[in-house]
Amino acid sequence: MSEPAIEVYEVEDRTFPPPADFAAQANTADQSLYDEANADYEAFWARQARELLTWDRDFETVLDWQLPFAKWFEEGQLNVSANCLDRHVEAGKGDKVAYHWEGEPGDKITITYAELLTEVKKFANVLKGLGLEKGDRVAIYMPMILELPIAMLACTRIGVAHSVIFGGFSADAIVDRCIDAEAKLIITADAGYRRGAAAALKPTVDQALDIGAPSVENVVVVDRCKTDPAMTDGRDHWWHDLMAEASDDCPAEPMDAEQLLYLLYTSGTTAKPKGIMHTTGGYLTQVAFTHKYVFDLKPDTDIYWCAADIGWVTGHSYIVYGPLTNGCTSVMYEGTPDTPGKDRLWDIVERYGVTQLYTAPTAIRMFMKWGAQETQKHDLTSLRVLGTVGEPINPEAWMWYHEHIGGEARPIVDTWWQTETGGNMITPLPGVTTTKPGSACHPIPGVFAELVDDNGNVVTNGGGYLTISKPWPSMLRGIWGDEERYRETYWSTYEGKYFAGDGAKLDDDGYLWLLGRVDDVMNVSGHRISTTEVESALVDHPAVAEAAVVGGNDELTGQAIFGYVILVGGNEASQELGDEIREHVGVKLGKIARPKTVIIVPDLPKTRSGKIMRRLLRDVADGRSLGDTTTLADPSVVAEIASRAAESDED
Ligand code: PRX
Repeated sequence: MSEPAIEVYEVEDRTFPPPADFAAQANTADQSLYDEANADYEAFWARQARELLTWDRDFETVLDWQLPFAKWFEEGQLNVSANCLDRHVEAGKGDKVAYHWEGEPGDKITITYAELLTEVKKFANVLKGLGLEKGDRVAIYMPMILELPIAMLACTRIGVAHSVIFGGFSADAIVDRCIDAEAKLIITADAGYRRGAAAALKPTVDQALDIGAPSVENVVVVDRCKTDPAMTDGRDHWWHDLMAEASDDCPAEPMDAEQLLYLLYTSGTTAKPKGIMHTTGGYLTQVAFTHKYVFDLKPDTDIYWCAADIGWVTGHSYIVYGPLTNGCTSVMYEGTPDTPGKDRLWDIVERYGVTQLYTAPTAIRMFMKWGAQETQKHDLTSLRVLGTVGEPINPEAWMWYHEHIGGEARPIVDTWWQTETGGNMITPLPGVTTTKPGSACHPIPGVFAELVDDNGNVVTNGGGYLTISKPWPSMLRGIWGDEERYRETYWSTYEGKYFAGDGAKLDDDGYLWLLGRVDDVMNVSGHRISTTEVESALVDHPAVAEAAVVGGNDELTGQAIFGYVILVGGNEASQELGDEIREHVGVKLGKIARPKTVIIVPDLPKTRSGKIMRRLLRDVADGRSLGDTTTLADPSVVAEIASRAAESDED
């Protein structure tokens, strides 16, 4: 295992207690939830499950823990879409706005809970009409339009598990995920708007199906951008045609608490992404709990906005399932923060009176770069809580968020969690916790984290590896189709503990500082990308013989991908070839996985036993001093790599 990829910065001594007026109105402002959970965490989660959710059948067993397999609320039955929609409508909140949606060209839709429920029932009937049954899997490859949560919720209504594939991923990525999950259906759109143009999606699905995903029988296509895509007779269907025929009578089926809710594929340390499995009762309990307490949600008055993409877990838990379970009004938007203007987010905050904003450090660093004048164009005083997620936030970005967005008066919640954890795990509670810029502070009530050293001994002060020492309700239930990999990846490194793959540090006051991944996973703009996956895509190019990939530091994106490649004999190193190889990765995996720099080298630094010295390659990428190179098979390689790296920096 290598050392944490991100440097331990000087520990901050600035502290920010919850503002008194905030604490006075907060959903929780003292230690009582922590005390309750510490006394009996199962009873604590059982109380949350019963209070926050509506069950068709109550549970008897809170937790059945057969390490590493957890079952929460086992005998309980509930339906996710009924918890997100029906019960609010039945409680007389049908006219409450569920989403204020904004398309990139400026089109706007406001959809109420009652309207959303009707659409969900109709689409659930469409799914049934296409032969989908409880237990089946459906792939979703869509832009940020309302049909996306509608499709997800319709799946949950009839017990079909969805597998949302981020719209920036490639045809190959769709193929891999559809084959692995044996998805019967793909739901997509012709395209989605992004930076002023229609970014095609349906043609990518066609390419995927040409490559081959034999389980896929049908494709449903939303006509978002009117790009007139090719439609294959018998296989492809327009969303609007199917919906025009669909009945809006579709009772929600009670599901077992452990019914598979969704798969979400994420990068691991091998080339094959893992299908992370989340189930129904425990997942919904923890996302509802964290959404309520971490964001201090007041469902009757708040306008909540998580500005992520539903293609990632943040969007699943904090755009769809948490907010709807809690019955609040959310904002959802299509496109990017810089189109039509660099003040897009602040314009939206002002117009809707957004009360909570949840975004990523990489976005905050971008806003810093664009300058405070963009934020000053708008009144941001409606904001009450600011959240961040996805990567460690550097104190400078934290302070900028605090000053320029929060007017120095709003609590910031830096939330650490993962696709695998399903919901927030380590974060301040805004009415309780005195924050420190750059620290995610403490595990939430009912979650127990421990740092351990290389030998698995618990570390109570200083650096270590982050583990979670007790099961939690929204934990992954496994890796789809690969029980062994589940045990191996998360439960074999430290006995009895979940190994998160992150390095962290505990300071003298018991605050946790997350330091980044300690495995071969990179974090680029808050997105997880596996070095091995990018290496495989590089060597897939006919001119590449061998490749090594590392994440170097990047001011804006946190980490950036550096690919070192050795060419197949007979190929001349050139800028053009480097660019072509880079593009090739973009085509194979999707643009987010395209290396920032491809460095063509005559050889790679290896230890005497033949292992590539990634640490050295990271040093080169970071432009740091090369340190001790004597374990190299051929020390001259290092100088060559360093000089090639310097050349490509200048380009
Ligand atoms: O390294 C941690 C980082 O993102 C990883 C999880 O990535 P993913 O599964 O894509 O989920 C991202 C959104 C939940 C973690 O292993 N990470 C996430 N949040 C933080 C973080 N690192 C530091 N601080 C955070 N707040």
